[in-house]
Amino acid sequence: MKVLVIGSGGREHAIVWKLKQSPRFPKIYCAPGNGGIARDAQIVNLEADDIKGLLAFALQEKIDLTIVGPEAPLAGGIVDKFMRKGMDIFGPVKELANLEASKAHSKEVMRRLNIPSAAFEIFDSPDKAIDFTNRSRLFAAHYPVVVKADGLAAGKGVVICKNRNEAQLAIEDMMVRKVFGRAGEKIVIEEHLEGEEASILAVSDGINVIALASSQDHKRAFDGDKGPNTGGMGAYSPAPVVTEVMHTRIMDEVIRPLINGLAKENKFYKGILYAGIMLTKEGPKVLEFNVRFGDPETQAILPLLKTDLIDLCFASIEDRIDEIKLEWKDKASVCVVLASGGYPGEYKMGFEISGLEDALWEAGSDTHIFHAGTKLQEAGGGCVTDGGRVLNVVSLGDDIRQARDKVYKAINKIKFEGMQYRKDIGHRALKHH
Ligand code: AMP
Ligand code: GLY
Repeated sequence: MKVLVIGSGGREHAIVWKLKQSPRFPKIYCAPGNGGIARDAQIVNLEADDIKGLLAFALQEKIDLTIVGPEAPLAGGIVDKFMRKGMDIFGPVKELANLEASKAHSKEVMRRLNIPSAAFEIFDSPDKAIDFTNRSRLFAAHYPVVVKADGLAAGKGVVICKNRNEAQLAIEDMMVRKVFGRAGEKIVIEEHLEGEEASILAVSDGINVIALASSQDHKRAFDGDKGPNTGGMGAYSPAPVVTEVMHTRIMDEVIRPLINGLAKENKFYKGILYAGIMLTKEGPKVLEFNVRFGDPETQAILPLLKTDLIDLCFASIEDRIDEIKLEWKDKASVCVVLASGGYPGEYKMGFEISGLEDALWEAGSDTHIFHAGTKLQEAGGGCVTDGGRVLNVVSLGDDIRQARDKVYKAINKIKFEGMQYRKDIGHRALKHH
């Protein structure tokens, strides 16, 4: 069996690592991969958004299964194009990938299907949006409000505005100065929700849907959830805030209504459905849907999963999710991202990374290092930094506290110039213990 993984981050390295555990012993390819993936899979020199090139490669190599990491190729219709050639690929078709690619579309779907989320208005002209912010009362309360660029903006298109001035500035940035390009042609202004966030990743075949372990991301750059938003500085799983009761509510009020509601419209959502949820006093409300594995949630979740990932992907593709019973390790995991100094702003790359083997040795069993922005050096075989988020270190433990102690022990051995990371990953989970 040949499996192709598309993408180059820590998420994709975790997927490749999980595929390596498969009893089917697949030959694994990854396009374009990174320094760590290069040791675990055959690298294919094609970018993740080169859909034409990827399809040609998959046809030529007779790839049996393709797993897509990032959203861009899904939004670009990679699933439709592979399916048309009879190739098995795990993910939603273009029309349904729009749930992530357009926030306005996603909010309209939620409204239509009665899925709880923040009150909102959609605007396609800056004048009307500004006019709206001048009203004395926005939604149920006054400020803050959240201004969101409609399109994909690499996680940066969301601004929480404390007052009218900030809201108007955000609107002008997006719609007049076009800082996110076409992604800001339309915007959503929504009510600010209060509560704790959690990520629920589920796998669907279009009719049935099964949830993976819950998790929580840490989006801010610095300890104490301070500083600018990033692609994610760490994650842990499961998230104690998602109690059994809450989990049932999320499945009954969010995940199944979406899958079933779409199915009634003859739209069959396949692949991973990722719901970013705010657990508010009134119950779970959706912040966003993503149509792919979360990064870094996946790095925390997959090491806990005993079930074969290939089985799970084919169950989705072949409409057999109802036959799947997921098995999990009775453990908790913590994933810490090691980033380049300056990230998410400007940073330098090309620094040598040392201590990876010592780190694994120090932490003992059940610790994994998933590479993100790294590159294999031509000569010696060592890795150098090659991006903002460089490495993900993941440890399992009997509980979050033990996993966290282990992961930070491992990290102490890893070095590269300017290395920066959060020292408090899992702090909210510890509060629940
Ligand atoms: P999104 O890409 O829509 O998930 O937004 C990114 C982050 O912004 C979320 O993870 C939340 O932390 C925050 N956020 C987005 N929408 C809201 C909202 N309506 N209320 C409060 N925080 C929000
Ligand atoms: N962890 C956030 C995301 O994958 O979008």
